Amino acid sequence: MSDEKSFHMTPDEFRRYGHAVVDWIADYQSRVESFPVLSQMKPGQVRASLPAVPPTQGESFDALMRDVEQLILPGVTHWQSPNFFGYFPCNASGPGILGDLLSSGLGVQGMLWSTSPACTELETHVMDWLVGMLGLPEKFRSSGSGGGVIQDTASSAALCALLAARERATGYVSNKKGFDGKVVAYASTQTHSSLEKAAMIAGIGVENLRLIEVDENFAMKPEALAKQVEADRRAGMTPSLVCATVGTTSSNAMDPIVAIGEVCEKNGLWLHVDAAMSGTAMLCPEFRHLIRGVEMADSFNFNPHKWMFTNFDCSCFWVADRKALIQTLSILPEYLRNQATESGAVIDYRDWHIQLGRRFRSLKLWFVIRHYGVEGLQHHIREHVRLAQQFVEWIRKDDRFELAAPAPLNLVCFRHKAGDAANQGIMDRLNRSGDLFLTHTKLNGKLTLRMSIGQTHTKARHVENAWRRIQQEANIADGDA
Ligand SMILES: Cc1ncc(COP(=O)(O)O)c(C=O)c1O
Repeated sequence: MSDEKSFHMTPDEFRRYGHAVVDWIADYQSRVESFPVLSQMKPGQVRASLPAVPPTQGESFDALMRDVEQLILPGVTHWQSPNFFGYFPCNASGPGILGDLLSSGLGVQGMLWSTSPACTELETHVMDWLVGMLGLPEKFRSSGSGGGVIQDTASSAALCALLAARERATGYVSNKKGFDGKVVAYASTQTHSSLEKAAMIAGIGVENLRLIEVDENFAMKPEALAKQVEADRRAGMTPSLVCATVGTTSSNAMDPIVAIGEVCEKNGLWLHVDAAMSGTAMLCPEFRHLIRGVEMADSFNFNPHKWMFTNFDCSCFWVADRKALIQTLSILPEYLRNQATESGAVIDYRDWHIQLGRRFRSLKLWFVIRHYGVEGLQHHIREHVRLAQQFVEWIRKDDRFELAAPAPLNLVCFRHKAGDAANQGIMDRLNRSGDLFLTHTKLNGKLTLRMSIGQTHTKARHVENAWRRIQQEANIADGDA
């Protein structure tokens, strides 16, 4: 048998098929509005269409793309449809997709500076750019005591913050000896569930994550936080971290960072600020009042993979004191030793997160920032907020509906006054129709509809059409009542 035998795709084949895939994606973008936003598949239907066993012999690329079109596409919920108003955006963009493709093409694993200096240094540079772009405190820059790292998700960022806070609160011995089950952390009843998961993984325990009550706007009550910290101290517990949220998942509530920060400063607690979706709005100076007090934070996180046109996954995490994070997460097996690391002159991002290996994620972020420019990004964020505020006005003017929470940015929580069954009916009929997709939450025990406006290509006509469809379904609900 010849040594030359190979099943690999040649560069020429790659070029040909690569062009075909890019063409397919461009066509997908043009026709995405023609698909039902929510996949209409039943459970098991996608798998039932796939062969039970893998192919023994390789197949043609045309066959692969045919199956993408016929078998996969019907099972896709179209997050990139401008009629997607569910959950929160997970938007993508041309420059983001191309940056991601380049990252795959280079196939770099950037666990150490030396395993690809550009992977580390571009990341550090872009993260420093973003400090200025979002109006974050200078202490988060790598030139000072802090620095930023790209994580996969906000959940991982919160876990890293909690681990560093646990170590700091226990004099950096918990990693070595374990700890006594007395470490406590604080979030609100509205904080994202990733904090609960982080408490499980960090060994703190869900019962030791105190869920502080919220006010009528669903924001954490700082007096209740102060009382709980005091009670825990008296009970001999070790308070470690408070998570304040800028834009809660359920209703986009804004925790008061200044007052929370004061409690943290007084008690030596780590303040983590989770701005997963709403952090992107800080590109626009007029929204930065929502992060007033952020200079008191020990860490800050936002997801460009939600609202900043950067394909999943890309979550930006900064710390004020990188030593605390590195001391928490660093271990150095012999096989990773190298001169650059020993010199102390480089960043090895493997010490800044849970996993060892890492992709070249900063490429897509760099492409997005350079393609749009700060002004381009600001334009689209302002437009999403403007459309959401217009939607708020429509809700206010239709006396069948009510607003269920303040809408400071791009998420509008509203409900039909006829009650839970009517709202459930409206949502189910809309989602079944495929015309648009929205999701719900519960606020004060009542089913509430959420209109989340942030998909890359959502324009006025999509929001107008969504409102027209919601009103049509409300007419049916009125008829039912
Ligand atoms: C405020 C907030 N924090 C955290 C998360 C979790 O994000 P991720 O999927 O990046 O872990 C979300 C959304 O899912 C969120 O809205």
